[in-house]
Amino acid sequence: MEKKYENIMVERVEEVGIVKINRPAQLNALNKKTVEEIIDAIEGFEKDPGIKVMIITGSNHFSAGADIKEMSTLSPIEALEKSPLAVWEKMMENIKKPVIAAIQGYAVGGGCELALSCDMIIASEDAMFGQPEINLGLMPGAGGTQRLARLIGKQKAMEVCLTGRFIPAKEAYELGIVNKVVPKELLMQEALKLAKEIASKAPIAVEFIKDSIRKAFETNLKEGLEYERRLFYLLLSTEDAKEGMKAFIEKRKPVFKGR
Ligand code: CAA
Repeated sequence: MEKKYENIMVERVEEVGIVKINRPAQLNALNKKTVEEIIDAIEGFEKDPGIKVMIITGSNHFSAGADIKEMSTLSPIEALEKSPLAVWEKMMENIKKPVIAAIQGYAVGGGCELALSCDMIIASEDAMFGQPEINLGLMPGAGGTQRLARLIGKQKAMEVCLTGRFIPAKEAYELGIVNKVVPKELLMQEALKLAKEIASKAPIAVEFIKDSIRKAFETNLKEGLEYERRLFYLLLSTEDAKEGMKAFIEKRKPVFKGR
């Protein structure tokens, strides 16, 4: 029985944990309560050995970003220390299991940043991305300038953040923000297909690959290659790696146990 929340819904499909943001009247704007619930659900799935991959999605839209009404009342010090988006951003950096964002409708402002903090993005044809904070006299504050610039390059990130214009799914795909664009009715089916495929792989290898690719954005090539090499040799000692290689030689499917 899944925990009951106010602004999100959680579900599990086999080894996939699904978090659905559900504040449709506010286009899933991320107020404190909603972010706290997302964090609680993701941390719950992270600790759950029965869950291998997570999906974050939204009911009607993905999210229109930080709750502007709530944010307008925060003092700068409160925002710096207690901003729910800052807490969630730090949490996402520590999640070891892969997280896929399944996006329909708006994923803008903090909603776009939430999507960018995930490991992969599947979008429906109606999805819209963007960092419109500039139109509020603000700037992205939960990774928008940093993750977007690393993902799509300086020129394009400048354009997106300085104009605040919305980017349709097709363009987001061409820019490399999105892994795949699918018809709206197939969004969850496609996200689940990807999640289940990853869930069928050796869990420690999945964890190390995610860790190593993320490292590529935090370090220089020399250190990154060294980090990758160490993880690779560490993986050789796992039962799953021995099983994977043995199964290949014996021409059968491997049975991974996460050890
Ligand atoms: N915060 C609070 N409420 C929001 C919201 C937000 N980010 N976005 C939408 N809503 C509310 C609206 O106030 C409206 O509520 P009411 O019916 O009570 O008036 C309801 O959701 C529907 O919104 P609209 O009528 O505006 O819907 P639309 O289809 O005409 O427009 C939209 C959709 C273009 C996304 C528009 O809602 C919009 O521009 N929203 C704000 C987007 C934005 O600026 N996000 C950045 C927030 S700042 C941030 O995220 C900071 C950060 O980086 C950490």
